[in-house]
Amino acid sequence: MHDELKKIEKAACDEIPGAKNRDTLDDLKIKFLGRERGALTLILRGLKNLPAPDRKTAGEEANRLRGVVEELVKKKLNELKKTELDSILKKEWLDVTRPGVKKERGSLHPITRVRREVEQIFCSMGFSVVEGPEVETEWYNFDALNIPKDHPARDMWDTFWLKTERGMWKVEGGTGKVFGGTGHTLRSTFHNLLLRTHTSPVQIRYMQKHNPPIRIIAPGRVYRYEATDASHDIQFYQVEGLLIDKNISIANFKAVILEFFKKMFLKEVKIRLRPSYFPFVEPGFEVDLSCIVCGGKGRAPRSLGEGGCSVCKKTGWLEMMGAGMVHPKVFEAVGYVPGNQQGFAFGVGLDRITMMKYKIPNIRLFHSGDLRFLKQF
Ligand code: DAH
Repeated sequence: MHDELKKIEKAACDEIPGAKNRDTLDDLKIKFLGRERGALTLILRGLKNLPAPDRKTAGEEANRLRGVVEELVKKKLNELKKTELDSILKKEWLDVTRPGVKKERGSLHPITRVRREVEQIFCSMGFSVVEGPEVETEWYNFDALNIPKDHPARDMWDTFWLKTERGMWKVEGGTGKVFGGTGHTLRSTFHNLLLRTHTSPVQIRYMQKHNPPIRIIAPGRVYRYEATDASHDIQFYQVEGLLIDKNISIANFKAVILEFFKKMFLKEVKIRLRPSYFPFVEPGFEVDLSCIVCGGKGRAPRSLGEGGCSVCKKTGWLEMMGAGMVHPKVFEAVGYVPGNQQGFAFGVGLDRITMMKYKIPNIRLFHSGDLRFLKQF
């Protein structure tokens, strides 16, 4: 028995300190101390067959050996844990003094920022934001707005018509099916397609689906078939507004719009209405805003030096939007009962507001894709 215990001790002292990893160590632990077939366990189990005096010494020796083996395993385990930790620390070494990697972040386009601001201001006055399609029919873009075919007012909007090689793209009134080419021209239910020239058709679409009271704005992209310059682009943005109820007057319009401009430009501003013509309103007018650079004086602010204000061209006023009281013909087109309601509508250029707000000199910068421009916002 004594020899056997010595053999086990030698094996344990040889093998345990050489264990390469935790798995091998676990195996060795089982080999010597395992509860089923561990070498020491087997010995202890055999003690009962020994004569009493031998049993005692052998028992003591076996217990001592168990202590030795347990100690060896514990020591080795600590050693292995330390090497593991060392290797992790080596692998994940990090120089906290190194400069960080800069994350490139995008920014919002100035028009997006201003559109969101416009939406917030009108929402705070109880308006909802609605949208309409950019590919529109001739009926929504013109006819329903009291601009029939061959009416000279159509020339106010130079239009991108959607054409195929053989003719116009058309959409069928009832079904909404789209057709390209010739052959459908004679059927009155077919409408020509175009890129909307203004956001006013959204008024029509909304009124067809909703009865008064109505309080909406409709921001969106519009298109004009025109030569471009510093203040005109073939594609730009408008916000349409529409408020319909029982006793709405121009005074209501003035109050709403003045509030809008004050909140937009964060200044005390003045507005004035000039009579103008738009087929879908009567009376119609254009709204001027007191110049936000010179404060309406027409002179240059002292900070800009001598000479007149170049933003308002020394007039003290900026032309901002078209507006008016909704024309009875428009109510008729959407199927409202005549005389039951009245309201105002307006259309304002989002690009123009953005240019004013951020003092941007050229509308074409918006779509230039020039990062030097865009990164300023
Ligand atoms: N749709 C017009 C345009 O693009 C602007 C406009 C004028 C809209 C008067 C209106 C309005 O709603 O009442 O030139």
